[in-house]
Amino acid sequence: MSYQNIFDRKNSAELYANYRPRFSQEVADSVINFLRLNKSSFRLMVDVGCGSGQSTDMLAPYFDEVLALDISKHQIAEAIARNQHSHVEYVVGKAEEIPSNDRSVDLVLVGMAVTFFDLPKFFKCVQRVLRPGGCLIIFGHKSPSLRVKIGGVAMSKEHNEFATALLDAFLLAGKSSIRALHDEVYSKYSNTFRTIPSSVKSRDEVKQVQKDWSMDDLKGYIRSTDTDDLSTSKFADRKCCDFSDFFEEQILKNTGVQNSKQVTFDLTLDIFMIRAVF
Ligand SMILES: C[S@@+](CC[C@H](N)C(=O)[O-])C[C@H]1O[C@@H](n2cnc3c(N)ncnc32)[C@H](O)[C@@H]1O
Repeated sequence: MSYQNIFDRKNSAELYANYRPRFSQEVADSVINFLRLNKSSFRLMVDVGCGSGQSTDMLAPYFDEVLALDISKHQIAEAIARNQHSHVEYVVGKAEEIPSNDRSVDLVLVGMAVTFFDLPKFFKCVQRVLRPGGCLIIFGHKSPSLRVKIGGVAMSKEHNEFATALLDAFLLAGKSSIRALHDEVYSKYSNTFRTIPSSVKSRDEVKQVQKDWSMDDLKGYIRSTDTDDLSTSKFADRKCCDFSDFFEEQILKNTGVQNSKQVTFDLTLDIFMIRAVF
C-alpha cells in the first residue's frame, strides 16, 4: 500500500472522522483575514485532500460554493454522510487533477495533506484553476503536546513531558517512506514552501487548544493514525491499536492512577500555515 492510500480504508476513515480534532475559529480567522487583506472574493473554494471534511467544515460557511475532493472513496463516503452544508460537494478525485474550470477558484485549501501530493503536478493544477489573484493556503501541524490532568487537577511538567514524548515518539517513528513525510511536516513544510510557484508567499502560526480529552478520545486519535504500513521502528512490534493500549498502561504507571476514567488531556496543536497568491 502506498502512503498516498494509507487513509483509504473504511475503518481508518471512520476513526479519522470520529477522533481527529476539528479546527478552531482562530484557524479559520487566520485564513479569512488573509483572504480579506488580499481582497479575495468568496465564490468558490476547493479543499484538496479533504478527508472526512474537517478542513472543509471550517471554511465552508464563508463561501458561496465548495468543492471538496479526496483520493480515498472511504473518506469521501464519511464526509458525505456527515455533511451539514448544502453548498458543499464532496467528490473522489486527485490533487493533481482538480476537476474545476480554468481560472474559476478563489481559494485552494489543503489541510494536513500536502505531503502526500505530487507537488509539481499539484502546483500546475493550482495555477490553472485559480482566478488571477486567487490564493493557495496549506496548513499542517506536528504531533500535539499534552497536558495531563487527574480528576481535573493538572499534573506536573514532568508528567506532561512524559506523555507528549511518548506520543511524539510513536507518531514520529516509521518506515523510511513515512519518515520523509514526517520530516517535511517537522520542517513546517519547508520544501513545499520553497517550491510554490509564486513570489507572493508568507507564513502564519496559530495555536489551538483542545481541552479535556478522555483517555478513550486520545486512544481513538492514536488509532486514527493507523496504517497497514506504519509499524514503527521504536515500537517495531506494535501497530497503532496495540500502541494505544501501551500508551494507556504507561500513563497510568507514570501517574500512579488506577482508573483511566480519572485521566484527561488538554492537547495543544501548533498549526503552521503557508499562504500564497497567484
Ligand atoms: C491527514 S488527511 C487530512 C484530511 C483533512 N484535510 C484534515 O484537515 O483533517 C490527508 C488526506 O489526503 C488524502 N490524499 C492523499 N493523497 C491525495 C491525493 N493525491 N489527492 C487527493 N487526496 C489525497 C488522503 O486520502 C487523506 O484523506
